Amino acid sequence: MCGIVGYVGTRDAASIVFDALCRLEYRGYDSAGIAVLDSSGICTAKRKGRLAELSPLVKTLPRAGQAIGHTRWATHGAPSDINSHPHCDCTGDIVLVHNGIIENHRELRERLIAGGHVMKTEVDTEVVAHLIEEKYRGDLAAAVAEAARELEGAMAIAVIHRGEPGRIVAYREKSPLIIGLGEGENFLASDIPAILPYTRKFLALNDGEIGVITEEGVAVYRLEKGSGANGLVKVGDRQPMVVDLEPEAAEKGGFDHFMLKEIFEQPEALMKAVSGRIRDGRVKFEEGEFGFSDEDVRALNKVYLLGCGTAYHACLVGKHLIERLAGIPAEAVLASEFRYMEPLIPERTLVIAVSQSGETLDTLAAVREAKERGAWRTLAVVNQPLSSLTREVDDVLYQRAGPEISVASTKAYTTQLVCLAMVACHMGFVRGRISEDQARAFGQELRNLPEKALGALEAAGLMERLAVEIAKEEDVFFIGRGADYLAVMEGQLKLKEISYIHAEAYAAGELKHGTLALIAPGVPVIACLMDPELAPKTASNVMEVKARGGWVVAIGSQECLNQLQLGEKDVLVTVPDVNPLISPVVSVIAMQLLAYYVARERGTDIDKPRNLAKSVTVE
Ligand code: AGP
Repeated sequence: MCGIVGYVGTRDAASIVFDALCRLEYRGYDSAGIAVLDSSGICTAKRKGRLAELSPLVKTLPRAGQAIGHTRWATHGAPSDINSHPHCDCTGDIVLVHNGIIENHRELRERLIAGGHVMKTEVDTEVVAHLIEEKYRGDLAAAVAEAARELEGAMAIAVIHRGEPGRIVAYREKSPLIIGLGEGENFLASDIPAILPYTRKFLALNDGEIGVITEEGVAVYRLEKGSGANGLVKVGDRQPMVVDLEPEAAEKGGFDHFMLKEIFEQPEALMKAVSGRIRDGRVKFEEGEFGFSDEDVRALNKVYLLGCGTAYHACLVGKHLIERLAGIPAEAVLASEFRYMEPLIPERTLVIAVSQSGETLDTLAAVREAKERGAWRTLAVVNQPLSSLTREVDDVLYQRAGPEISVASTKAYTTQLVCLAMVACHMGFVRGRISEDQARAFGQELRNLPEKALGALEAAGLMERLAVEIAKEEDVFFIGRGADYLAVMEGQLKLKEISYIHAEAYAAGELKHGTLALIAPGVPVIACLMDPELAPKTASNVMEVKARGGWVVAIGSQECLNQLQLGEKDVLVTVPDVNPLISPVVSVIAMQLLAYYVARERGTDIDKPRNLAKSVTVE
């Protein structure tokens, strides 16, 4: 995930910024760069790869008291020296780093190029430098404010100008940025751990705020249309917060474990996954990430979705979405089983490989097998840039979830679902299976998911209390129908892998075909009910459980849960209502939280559960 650092003071800025970037290494990145401003101008060093590769270049930078730096996690434009940040305008006077995604970068690029700007890269960030250049009339903060008004998307930006030494201008909109306060020096960072060794006093910028950071102090302005010069209104003194975290705790953002942090990052990850890919209400992929012409999409006969573990669960939802929205026969297969089933691959078959790491050997092997057997096209839905899988396939759709450190996959799953939903919606529209209005409505559903995920996170307190009881159990059953069945498959895996409790997921209608024999008084059953059409049937299955003395925890939308009649000990967990096709994105969050708190109650090693690895590179 991208990281930003800035420094103004009397010390060697390049070394401090480099050191601070190293403290963000754990977040993952594919390239890095630093720009230093001294009396002779701005010097920039940037390099694809690890910070160790940037290090020799940093030593050649001038020793001066002002610098900005960046670690990049590629979204627009492949990782390369030239695509690395910082980026500059035509003159080289304006240099900046940026986290996030500029959704309207294409339109702005065309306009700026028509106006005579020459761009060197495909990166959305470069457009921002040129836009600020266009607005610049001797005041960097004013130019940033004017530019910000035209930018759409999520962004945290740090800019310097050769003509305004000793000053960093920062802007934040939906992407974190904090200012660190020192004595005779001040700092800027996207994440507290970066600068924790230098200061414990921080000011957080809010969305729509500009910070002007100098050696002597910090001024914060709010961007408001039509008020004050350039619409900048000075924000009154803000009380700094003092952070008393140890660096390791700070890396976890104050959460006890990476898993919990990553669960809570889902609204932001979902927002990034759709950012710039749903335009004018419709799914429109960015250039180079979905290389299918409309003709190709119409020609498809079959789709295979391949993945392991959580990624396989995402494939199951993907199959459901592709068949329902695009009308193409689709099959989700465990990548580890694909070879042994001697798959029949009809003409014009698309193979979608889903993998967070992009390094899972079973998935890589399955893709190779599919290609050997004549798969027409291959597409990877993957989180890790430059991973092996991205080199095996024709096209890549990045999940943009940011690094997932906990072994238990959470935000990778939900962003995989959203990527597959975008693919299905786009295909459905191109093939005429869904109308423009339906495609727009679905696109809007996807855009609403971050907010719904936020709503689902409100279940945390209830799940924490419930976990005390579930943690005493040795067997837990999960049931659901339709997409809810697919969601509980992921829910049971979460519980199993981090709490070591035996958990099984069943299609609710299957209980009576065998598993009901295991339901005895007090046995916990987690039921998921997100689809009002299926809820009455699942409700009957819940009653079968109740009749045998089972203990029910029902997770669902209010409308669905209203259909249940439960006992005193049973628990209802209400999550936001959402289109049932994509509901696992929301319902699974409650199950992730339950698994997390149960594991914590049992004292397991949550981020590194026994016997498991984050990247499974053996067969
Ligand atoms: C899920 O919590 C696990 N970590 C595991 O099932 C994982 O999803 C699987 O190993 C596939 O990994 P990948 O997405 O990196 O290919």
